[in-house]
Amino acid sequence: MKERLKDLEKGLIGELALVDNKKDLESFKVKALGRKSELQQIMKSIGSLGPEEKRETGILVNGLKSGLQKKIDDLESRLNEQEKQRSISAESVDVSLPGRHIRLGALHPVTIVLDRVRDIFRPLGYDVVTGPEIEHDFYNFEALNIPPEHPARDMQDTFYIHDSVVLRTHTSPIQIRTMLKAKPPVRILAPGRVYRSDYDISHTPMFHQVEGLFVDRGVRFSDLKGTLLYFARNMFGEETNIRLRPSYFPFTEPSAEVDVTCVMCRGKGCRLCKDTGWIEILGCGMVHPNVFGHVGYPDDITGFAFGMGIERIAMLKYRISDLRMFFENDVRFLEQFI
Ligand code: PHE
Repeated sequence: MKERLKDLEKGLIGELALVDNKKDLESFKVKALGRKSELQQIMKSIGSLGPEEKRETGILVNGLKSGLQKKIDDLESRLNEQEKQRSISAESVDVSLPGRHIRLGALHPVTIVLDRVRDIFRPLGYDVVTGPEIEHDFYNFEALNIPPEHPARDMQDTFYIHDSVVLRTHTSPIQIRTMLKAKPPVRILAPGRVYRSDYDISHTPMFHQVEGLFVDRGVRFSDLKGTLLYFARNMFGEETNIRLRPSYFPFTEPSAEVDVTCVMCRGKGCRLCKDTGWIEILGCGMVHPNVFGHVGYPDDITGFAFGMGIERIAMLKYRISDLRMFFENDVRFLEQFI
């Protein structure tokens, strides 16, 4: 009997040494200690032994049982610990991994330039005002001294909605709307979308302008020139100069087109400025008396106005060669500007 128990113990300990997961451990428990186990068989047979042998065998069986149970408990807690470690490491965060890339939005170059224009004019006391994009003929043309049949209507390829309703072709109608509402002095900056039926490398059917208007008693052409020089130097750099070329707009008299020192060659002459050293940036002039007549301003009032294309300024500032890129919404283009 002793031999049988020894062999059984050896066999079971050998088997237990091979168990490495909880499922196998459960089967081992059934096999080693369960009702049909050899150990149970031995225990049942103890009753038929003589008293001395009964005692000895009982002690051996109990020793075997408790020894085995302890081994099983140890293994079980080791397996539990392993399982816990495994789940902890599965849930843990590897702080050495590179972070997830979050794409930041960027301001559109038109917005950046418009903000800059606003910041340049704010210290001069200009208020920002806006007007409707669908405009009445009166504000877009008539009150700006462009009567029906006037050839100047052909200067801008107008989108008509009705006979007398258009998509505004410039921001100048905001001059009229503002002066009809307010008495002089008036000092405004009027940004917005404008529309012309045109499409090529330097024209899109929608683009942005910003209008400037300064009206008061005693405003002179030299005030206009000084204001524009201040603007050009702030926008394109301190060493920038301007020149005014005589031009024509129905709503200003005299009128001028303004050039700045070429942003590329700084005046030496290059392809961008067609070897002139100058780049055109805006139109301007002294407000025409007929315009003041339309808004009911008295005779002793004078003023100047100017209007520029925002995309054009942005193209010069950021050296963008194709106007259409502003509106294709390719983020690789749009996220480059600060
Ligand atoms: N409105 C003119 C244009 O779109 C620009 C301009 C504005 C000219 C104000 C003179 C004065 O071409």
